[in-house]
Order: sequence, then structure tokens, then C-alpha cells
Amino acid sequence: MKTYTIAAAAALALVLAGPAQAQAPIVLKFSHVVAPDTPKGKGAVKFQELGEKYTNGNVKIEIYPNSSLYKDKEELEALQLGAVQMLAPSNSKFGPIGIKEFEVFDLPFVLPDKAALRRVTDGPLGARLLKLLEPQGMVGLAYWDNGFKLMSANKPLREVADFKGLKFRIQSSKVLEMQMRSLGVIPQVMAFSEVYQALQTGVVDGQENTPSNMYTQKMHEVQKFTTLSDHGYIGYVVVVNKKFWDGLPADVRAGLEKAMAEATKYSNEISEKENAEALADMKKSGKTEFITLTDAQKAAWKQAMSPVFKDAEARVGKALIDEFEKAIKPTTN
Ligand code: LMR
Repeated sequence: MKTYTIAAAAALALVLAGPAQAQAPIVLKFSHVVAPDTPKGKGAVKFQELGEKYTNGNVKIEIYPNSSLYKDKEELEALQLGAVQMLAPSNSKFGPIGIKEFEVFDLPFVLPDKAALRRVTDGPLGARLLKLLEPQGMVGLAYWDNGFKLMSANKPLREVADFKGLKFRIQSSKVLEMQMRSLGVIPQVMAFSEVYQALQTGVVDGQENTPSNMYTQKMHEVQKFTTLSDHGYIGYVVVVNKKFWDGLPADVRAGLEKAMAEATKYSNEISEKENAEALADMKKSGKTEFITLTDAQKAAWKQAMSPVFKDAEARVGKALIDEFEKAIKPTTN
């Protein structure tokens, strides 16, 4: 009798609820500022494919490339507000929301190669830096690579004196501002999506960026000279809105974590090749003349920029700079 009553009540509840409905998927918006055909753009698509697969279609991942939703600073604010769930801003862009420590990656000539970078990002310092994001309402999931930067302008940049008085677009990093001032350049913070036009119209004279970013934004078409300087690095922190992330069912979050781990591996594996190809394509186009520095010229650039390490102490802290420089060195047994 009792069993019958429970079964009947359950049946009645089903009737009242109406026909079973498929649950709407959770929507994850991933906004970024670069072209799809870049290491970050491709990494985002890989995460989309794997994330939807590993969550069995319970999460719909929408990608908005090329600043189609938000520009640089706006996108971080939108993430904090929850208007978008995931971003991958460069290390240089966290300052305006009060996290200046990531600017340590902007120190000039600090990273000799990707292996040195990995020793930071895969080690305890990398993990500690990610923790700084949480009080700001975001969770840092991974470090994604872009690559080493070139300098471009409408005049050849060989000697330090060649920079004097030029206006350069920079990302919103005080350490990059110090770097440009050390060369006698007037830095101007500007959103990535505005750089091409600013170069074309002469609002700024030059800029620094990676080959893949320069090529996909066509910057090489409006800069007569590009110096192969490798003086700095651009990489990203993949961040997700903390409330969104913590509120996901555990199995869904696990699926997205697995997707992120694989997409990170993929994006970091292709980054070097993507940049090498972009550089080759720009060379082939003949639109900008490439300059290779002599050892003496490169040493002079390095020397001119060296005061940035001291100046940056007031911004990111001496202890952090020391720890960063220690972490990049291979451990010797
Ligand atoms: C820039 O603003 O130059 C870069 O941070 C763009 C990007 O996301 O690579």
C-alpha cells in the first residue's frame, strides 16, 4: 500500500511537471583580442572543442575573437562582473585592475628562452602568481605562450639613439612604460584593436609585438622597418570568473579542467611555429624591411634598458624580481 502511494505521488508529480525537457547547456563566453589565426586564437578553439566534448555537451563554449565583445581593459572588467566567463589577457594587462605583479614578465631581456619561462610558469612562483587573481574575482587556469617581441617604426631602429622622441604604442603596463622611457621613447597606452589605425594615421610612430600579432593585424603593412630584437616576451594567463567556476557542478568543472590542460599543451606547442610562420610571411610580403642587430647594437639596447630592473622594484617589488630571476635559471645539482 505504502509503495503504491509513493509511486502514485511520483507519477502525479511527473504529470504536473509536464514532459521532460532537456536541460539548457551552461554557456561559457571566451573573449579575446587577437585574430583566430594566432597561438591564442587556436588555443581557444581547441579548448572549445575539447571542453564541449568532455562535458558531454553540457557546456556551450562561445568564442569572441578580435575584440569583438570587449577591448583590453573592458574585458577584464567584464570578466569581474561576470558578463563574460573566460579570457586570456597578456601578463602586461593586469595592472589596471590592481594586479601589478604579472608585469615582472615585461622586464626587458629577462627571459633567454621558452625553457626559462617554463621554469617560472610551471614552478611555485607561477602557481603563487595565479593565486593573486582570486581576491579579484577570478581563477587563473593556465599560462599560454605567444612569443618574443619585435620593434617596428617607419624609420630603422638600430642604435638606441634611433628611438629618441618617437611615440610608441604600449600595452597597459608600467614596466613597459619604463622600458620605453629608457630608450627615449614616449609611450602611449592603447587597446590592441586600435594599433593598426594608430600606426597608419601616424598617431604613434611605432610599436612592439610578436610576429603573429603583427602579421594578423597587418601592422607590417604600415611600418617600414621591423627590428628582430627579441627584447621581451608576450604570454597570457587564462582566467575564468571565480563565481562561475566555483558554481559549476564538480564533474563539469573536471571536464573543463581536462580540456584546459590539453588546450594549454597544444597552444604552447604551436606558438613557436605560428610565430616563425608569421615572420616568414611578413618577410615574403616585402612590406616591411627587417633589421638584424649586431651583437654590439643588441648589447647597447640591453644596457640602455637595464635601469628598468631597478625602477620596476617600486612597481612589482624587489623580492619578486629577485625570485623571478632566480627561478628562470636552470637548477644545477
Ligand atoms: C597586445 O595588446 O599587444 C597583446 O596583449 C595582444 C594579445 O592579446 O596578444
